[in-house]
Amino acid sequence: MLQEADRLLHEGKTIAFVPTMGCFHDGHLALMREGQKHGDALIVSIFVNPAQFGPTEDFQTYPRELNQDIRLAESVGVDVVFAPEANAMYDRGHETYVNLETLPRGLCGLSRPDHFRGVATVVAKLFNIVKPHVALFGKKDYQQLAVIRRLARDLSYDIKVVGVPTVREADGLAMSSRNTYLSKEQRRSALALYESLQLAQELVAQETKDAGKLIEKASRLIVSYPDTKVDYVTLCDPDTLEDVERVDRPSLMALAVWVGRTRLIDNAILTP
Ligand code: PAJ
Repeated sequence: MLQEADRLLHEGKTIAFVPTMGCFHDGHLALMREGQKHGDALIVSIFVNPAQFGPTEDFQTYPRELNQDIRLAESVGVDVVFAPEANAMYDRGHETYVNLETLPRGLCGLSRPDHFRGVATVVAKLFNIVKPHVALFGKKDYQQLAVIRRLARDLSYDIKVVGVPTVREADGLAMSSRNTYLSKEQRRSALALYESLQLAQELVAQETKDAGKLIEKASRLIVSYPDTKVDYVTLCDPDTLEDVERVDRPSLMALAVWVGRTRLIDNAILTP
């Protein structure tokens, strides 16, 4: 892979890069299609990164579909698929990790304390291996995108980080590899995430500005669906991710919800 990236660089190619954990859906493919517009060569990585999973999380059961993914990547014109083995990324004795001070603290960081350390570390490593000019990340993982933007700046990577809008199913559910875990009934309950974001936007349009009230209404709607439990619903500044009290300006509503044993996330910018 290192040689491949060097060859493309030598040929003067602009490299666009989409890091993934595989099991592609239309959200991943949208990132790749957008990537086409930003470079002459498109590289996609597929790596289920053990460092970003907690000890009780789904690393073992995370869906792996390498052959199908390679076919899908080819179908959207990906030039190189980089799919390293775990021991190729984390050598025995690995002990260097990338930590951000504040962005990983709230939102998903509350229930996944080491998650963003794992994400930041693997993305920093992938940036060094692939040497892209442009890297694309989905806004569905909004906090992750914020972390990567900050990391690229703080560690002086000369890489343009592009955020791509969330791709949804016809009924609004954000596409996710973890949606494959859902039973038919749970799939219906999973709509609670999108519905609650829609409700919050409607309330904001009707002049409800109080963050506490909006969070309460959204949470109530979520738990009215069977088999759901709120992990968090939060309203925060889209750049700093600090809590806001009122939605007087565009604010991020981000949420994580358990549907059965599957944890799903979604977000939207609410605009007054
Ligand atoms: P993964 O969950 O496979 O997602 C890869 C990329 O696809 C991420 O940038 C994610 O935000 C984006 N994505 C996922 N669902 C999307 C959707 N419905 N619409 C638009 N984009 C979507 O995120 C990761 O992998 C990992 O944490 C990674 C960055 C690869 C580091 O290991």
